[in-house]
Amino acid sequence: MTLALEQAARGLGRTAPNPPVGCVIVQARTDQDGEVVGRGFHPRAGEPHAEVFALRDAGERERGAVAYVTLEPCSHHGRTPPCADALIAAGVRRVVVAALDPNPLVAGRGVQRLRDAGIEVTVGVLEADAVRQQAGFRSVIVRGRPWVVAKYAMTLDGKVAALREGNGAVSGPEARERTMRWRDELDAIAVGSGTLGLDDPALTTRGVPGGRDPRPVVFDRRAASDPQARAWRPGAVLVTAPDADAAAHEAAGITVQRAESLPDALSGLAGLGIGSVLLEGGPTLLSAFLAHGLVDEVRVFVSPKLLGAGLSPLTAPARPMYEVQALHEVTVEPLGQDVLISGLLHDIPRV
Ligand SMILES: NC(=O)c1ccc[n+]([C@@H]2O[C@H](COP(=O)([O-])OP(=O)(O)OC[C@H]3O[C@@H](n4cnc5c(N)ncnc54)[C@H](OP(=O)(O)O)[C@@H]3O)[C@@H](O)[C@H]2O)c1
Repeated sequence: MTLALEQAARGLGRTAPNPPVGCVIVQARTDQDGEVVGRGFHPRAGEPHAEVFALRDAGERERGAVAYVTLEPCSHHGRTPPCADALIAAGVRRVVVAALDPNPLVAGRGVQRLRDAGIEVTVGVLEADAVRQQAGFRSVIVRGRPWVVAKYAMTLDGKVAALREGNGAVSGPEARERTMRWRDELDAIAVGSGTLGLDDPALTTRGVPGGRDPRPVVFDRRAASDPQARAWRPGAVLVTAPDADAAAHEAAGITVQRAESLPDALSGLAGLGIGSVLLEGGPTLLSAFLAHGLVDEVRVFVSPKLLGAGLSPLTAPARPMYEVQALHEVTVEPLGQDVLISGLLHDIPRV
């Protein structure tokens, strides 16, 4: 299943609105020993699913084999025929599934279909890892909005930017490299009009072999941002107020998404096929997302530097300690001179 998860990871950031899924076919010699005869992953929506690629890769060697798949094989006709049927037709003996599909069209039916055909099915192997990979897909299916990962870098005295001109990067090269990997893996990258105007960020993925750029999403209620800013490229989205004049952005080919509120905006992004969002700031937008309970995961770099007066990551009002929002599934990782602290504010939807 670890190999299947590695396969699935190759599709991260590329499969929305579908999930990233990986599949490995093993000819078992004993319970403990076998040979991997096929590997596959779902590369993007509209293309065949992981099981189909893995079976093709196995050639004629899949009969009587065990298939490891990170998500329950589908049982319905979507853009491609059901994968449960493909596995049955291939004559596999056993299917090991990491996580059930939350899609009401599947939800247990894929497994049932396999069992009805006499195939032994095991569910729940490395489930937590699979669910994490599928956070975007699960979030859209269950909650109708993307999975939101807030990322920022702050100094040891808790500042994300200087108050005066000459804003350099807060964190070091290792943190930057990690951020680029996340940009490659998440569907979209979001900033507010403040960051766009002050920093003119490119919001691209740089230095990741085979990397691809996330869709830029700019939250700008007055549509006052410069339509020539570097972030605007094909696929970019301007999120603005229902009555804002976005003619210049429309003329520049930017997708304009109108929304009354942040929750509406996020449902709109799900409608555009965006399953996961890397929220890269700044403090005003991040605070608004948090106030609406729209941040699901937090990834913060703490850098051993002192700035003094500067921008805090959050502008939210003071709250008593008993209302503090504690992350769960927390990890702490040194990265060069910085420390990455990450964790969840919400559980990833399972079913
Ligand atoms: N160290 C880091 O990790 C990091 C990351 C990012 C940014 N920064 C720094 O942060 C600074 C920018 O801070 P900022 O707070 O001005 O930028 P911001 O949060 O990117 O942008 C704020 C703007 O977003 C717009 N917005 C759109 N929808 C909103 C909503 N629902 N709620 C609230 N605001 C909404 C607002 O303008 P409208 O009212 O016109 O819509 C608001 O003025 C820059 O100096 C940048 O370098 C640091």
